Amino acid sequence: MRIDIITCLPRLLDSFFAHSILQRAQQGGYVEVIVHDLRDYTADKHRRVDDYAFGGAAGMVMQIEPIARCIRSLQAERTYDDVIYMTPDGERLNQRTTNTLSLRQNLIILCGHYKGVDERVRELFITKEISIGDYVLSGGELAACVLSDAIIRLLPGVLNDETSALTDSFQDNLLAPPVYTRPAEFEGHRVPDILLSGHEAKIDEWRHEQALERTRVRRPDLLDL
Ligand code: 6GU
Repeated sequence: MRIDIITCLPRLLDSFFAHSILQRAQQGGYVEVIVHDLRDYTADKHRRVDDYAFGGAAGMVMQIEPIARCIRSLQAERTYDDVIYMTPDGERLNQRTTNTLSLRQNLIILCGHYKGVDERVRELFITKEISIGDYVLSGGELAACVLSDAIIRLLPGVLNDETSALTDSFQDNLLAPPVYTRPAEFEGHRVPDILLSGHEAKIDEWRHEQALERTRVRRPDLLDL
């Protein structure tokens, strides 16, 4: 998989992808993440990417030309499955969308800033608009990191057995059950006996019940899906 991220704050993204699982995923050849500085696609010497809104609305708007130039230069090299725009008014991200996107070959992610992008960018280039929740961030960069992380950890080979994505919360519309490690007793608080029993079928059953109960209590909305 290849992910091209377009942003006017490339340094903000660099450190995120340079660590831990995301770094290993790239070194292992499972994913290639390329961050593009939108200012490299400007034509003027001030490297401007935004301008005042027509009609006098408050705030700056990201201009279409640098974005068009950047997206077109990428599309001239390969075919992209989706051109995603990170925006608070997009479709709210969930595990289903993440699973679907993890099956794609090439993705472009455009990070919004200021009061957003010129509407014609959305009409002409964007195939999918994603929000990571009902609150506003100062830019789409953090959201692009969230989306990329959620996708990349699902790519076959990126996680090992112990960290397998199959047992994540949400994979079956249930929250994950509680987990324990040594010691078996801490200041009188014991690990549930069933987990020490070695009875695999019963343990699976217990985990499923716990997942159901936890979902019922914390996220009953997930059970209605
Ligand atoms: Cl994708 N962008 C911004 N700026 N704020 C957000 C968001 C995205 N998702 C939730 N809040």
